[in-house]
Amino acid sequence: MSIVVAIDGPSGSGKSSVSRRVAQRLGLAYLDTGAMYRAATWWAVHEGVDLADTGAVAALVRDMVLVMVVDPRGPQVWVGGIDVTAAIRETSVSTAVSAVATNLDVRAELARRQRAEIAFQCEPGSWADGRGIVAEGRDITTVIAPDADVRLLLTASEEARLARRAREVHGSDDAAAVEATRDQVVRRDADDSAVAQFLTAADGVVTVDSSALDLDQTVDAVLGVVER
Ligand code: CDP
Repeated sequence: MSIVVAIDGPSGSGKSSVSRRVAQRLGLAYLDTGAMYRAATWWAVHEGVDLADTGAVAALVRDMVLVMVVDPRGPQVWVGGIDVTAAIRETSVSTAVSAVATNLDVRAELARRQRAEIAFQCEPGSWADGRGIVAEGRDITTVIAPDADVRLLLTASEEARLARRAREVHGSDDAAAVEATRDQVVRRDADDSAVAQFLTAADGVVTVDSSALDLDQTVDAVLGVVER
């Protein structure tokens, strides 16, 4: 029997680390859909396409050879035969990604690929050999997999999210690091909210607030919901 776990949440909610560990604990595949939007952004910049030219970006993404390695112990992202796992985390991509993620034709194409990957991991012979998948992003519980067995919204206070992101990007959560992070996180949430409804839980979606939880505690809370 296969299981699909859908997890949404804003930037800095910890959804990537938590989803990876949950997938590992359950022996499921792991799909980071944000990494797909980042990969599309990286590819468009690499190919010299103007991100404001929505038609050109969409055409490029439709032809993009994207490989998502769904092993939660070491997820990788490859575009056009290039390993972009590290490159897609660079600030230049983080700053540009909302422009690509708000392109509706890009969303339609990536949504198609995300649904196909989720279905594939529920089939024998796939990486998960039919056990299923944890898929995370901004619209998984609502648009991509509204019929998932488990649907979760991972939230955290703005303060907690900024401190986490500051530690990730600057290695510190002192006042200067938090301020340096604020603009990016808050602005991207605002840019994203136009297309992705991820700040309030849809009907039937369980909210887990991780503000006061560390990583292990959050993973346990999510596993608790899965096992219900
Ligand atoms: O860095 P962070 O964890 O906040 O974001 P991410 O999960 O790597 O996603 C990067 C960007 O992709 C988001 O800011 C959204 O613009 C977009 N995204 C989306 O629109 N829909 C998704 N399902 C996942 C990501």
